[in-house]
Amino acid sequence: MTRLLVRNARMVVKGRPVIRQILIDQGRISRVAVRIKVDAERNLNAEGNFVIPGVIDPHVHFREPGLNHKEDWMTGSRAAAAGGVTTVLDMPNVKPPTFTVKRLQKKRALASTSIVNYGFHFGASAQDNTSEIRKARGVASTKVYMNSTTGNLLVEDIELIRKIFSCSRMVTAHAEEQQLEDAVRISKETNKRLYLCHVTLAKELAFLKRAKNRHMFCEATPHHLFLSSKDEKKLRGFGMMKPVLKSEKDRRALWAAVNRGLIDAVGSDHAPHLLDEKKSAAPPSGVTGLETMLPLLLDAFNKRNISLSRIVELTSRNPARIFGLRNKGSISPGYDADLCILDLNMKKKVRNDELHTKCGWSPFDGWILKGWPMATIVNGNIVFEKGDIFDIKAKEVEYDEV
Ligand code: DOR
Ligand code: ZN
Ligand code: ZN
Repeated sequence: MTRLLVRNARMVVKGRPVIRQILIDQGRISRVAVRIKVDAERNLNAEGNFVIPGVIDPHVHFREPGLNHKEDWMTGSRAAAAGGVTTVLDMPNVKPPTFTVKRLQKKRALASTSIVNYGFHFGASAQDNTSEIRKARGVASTKVYMNSTTGNLLVEDIELIRKIFSCSRMVTAHAEEQQLEDAVRISKETNKRLYLCHVTLAKELAFLKRAKNRHMFCEATPHHLFLSSKDEKKLRGFGMMKPVLKSEKDRRALWAAVNRGLIDAVGSDHAPHLLDEKKSAAPPSGVTGLETMLPLLLDAFNKRNISLSRIVELTSRNPARIFGLRNKGSISPGYDADLCILDLNMKKKVRNDELHTKCGWSPFDGWILKGWPMATIVNGNIVFEKGDIFDIKAKEVEYDEV
């Protein structure tokens, strides 16, 4: 592997924007300095644009095995790279679901085609697979579906859920309303870390404000931040997802929670389904999100609705810390060279036919957004630059103790 020098990178150091050079060696950041005098084999001029740690998306559905007509690791990871995402954590509701160590191993092999770094959430089964959960190594969490979802992964038995928490590294939950309160209670009883996916309701946020502790983390999705029930009519099947879109009042409460720190991370819940499926009489739940998550947030930054440092916390620093992703989430020597160069002034329309996801549609089709990734670097390799994608294979993440 060769060295890469990222020149003229704008970064925030001690709250102030400064220009730095970033030297990358063997896929790792080796130096960040005002001046670096080396003859690196490759140079990339950031042209004074902001460089942020690559986005870590803790919540994607890449559909392999069994559902790869909707997405696969190749198309999904290309979509990620185009959206400034350098690491994804994949969900277990594939076919068959990731309920056993053997199936996890199979998934690992499938993911080796990915051009962004990757990790996995292990699945919890209503048929009690806790013996497999205990054996699983190198997973981000156990995902528990406490509300029904795509695939047959619903777990309702509270005693079983308690057992799942007890034997897991940490738990990631799809839990709405009462189920969310149950998850919080069980997290406290078992003293296990809990990541609550896609919180949506003002009343859930009010509950969490009282009940949340330092072992609990909350996610917001871009679709719940930028769409509401008033968009449902226009979007029809393309606005159907779980949790469903909520009111404008809930959406405002979610934004307040994002800016006040109650929300810890933004996850895309990238859940592709085919165009025909979404146009059918009974559309499956789920929307794409990888390619538009960062641009939507950057557009919000340009509209002064969020700060850039808050975006970095929500999209990389916190996900790395929450899931204990080794050497990720910061632009510092020793960290993996996963970076995103931003063009904060670029205005571009989201177009279905320009997306890289296999399903080729987005609920944000037609939106004009200001602020797009200019280049995406994964393990020191440029995988996306000004519209072009380069197929360089990435790696599975490693974990620190949490
Ligand atoms: O909308 C959703 N789609 N919610 C989920 O919980 C699952 C996801 C999917 O896999 O399609
Ligand atoms: Zn979910
Ligand atoms: Zn999901």
